[in-house]
Amino acid sequence: MPLTGTGAIVTPAVSAARGVGAFNVIQLEHAQAIVAGAEAAGSPVVLQLSENAVRYHGALAPVGSAVLAVARAAEVPVAVHLDHATRPELVYEAVELGFSSVMFDASALDYEENVRTTAEVVAHCHAAGAWVEAELGKVGGKDGVHAPGVRTDPGEAAAFVTATGVDALAVAVGTSHAMLTRDAALDFELIAALRKAVPVPLVLHGSSGVGDEHLSRAIEHGMTKVNIATHLNKVFTTAVRRALAENAELVDTRRYLGAGRTAVAGEVTRLLGVLKAVPSTA
Ligand code: G3H
Ligand code: ZN
Repeated sequence: MPLTGTGAIVTPAVSAARGVGAFNVIQLEHAQAIVAGAEAAGSPVVLQLSENAVRYHGALAPVGSAVLAVARAAEVPVAVHLDHATRPELVYEAVELGFSSVMFDASALDYEENVRTTAEVVAHCHAAGAWVEAELGKVGGKDGVHAPGVRTDPGEAAAFVTATGVDALAVAVGTSHAMLTRDAALDFELIAALRKAVPVPLVLHGSSGVGDEHLSRAIEHGMTKVNIATHLNKVFTTAVRRALAENAELVDTRRYLGAGRTAVAGEVTRLLGVLKAVPSTA
């Protein structure tokens, strides 16, 4: 199965009112686990590499090339996406390397600047055939501050999409990044209003803070791409802790990272089952 365009995965999901799982990669084991989980679910999936993860690795090419290789060898459609990029140079490097899509995150800028810089990045990416997501209404939490109160205005969101030409829009509807509990209170009415007003797929960030039932309801109300990072890291780390605690002599990194990888694969399969369930109102 070749590396797939993000639009080729997300667009059919919009029409079918299903969700698309977009999971963040830090180590190679994450990418392997996410693809194994998607293969077991028989679902397409998006592998995401954030600007922060690239910073951790010190450069995009080594980790980005590895993620692309994992995607190219998959038995289900897999897209590779650059997540939360604030630097246009990093976006262009990812596109050059062969990434399917990018999120250009200028949400920290004021509206006019967000529009101007995002439109420039979109023009460049579209010329290279890459799909672009942007964010309007800052989803908090990346700086460690829990800020679930921010909301995206539907009218402004529609104008933003027209002015920038983005292919998908990340919106603030009650989530916050890096939550360790799955109890965020989503604004379902706002999701429905955004779905009505905005002509491109909607993206839910900070989805680790959302429980299964509310993930389903968010999709039912119009969300499509569902970004999950922290929750999988919790699953990974819990399994690693258990493996290390069970055997004080354990030094082979494959033994405990492998336990983390197996646990994440199972959770990805389970989550993809939640995201692809046909809504009860369908
Ligand atoms: O862009 C990535 C996501 O929004 C993940 O957020 O770590 O809260 O799941 P999360
Ligand atoms: Zn995010």
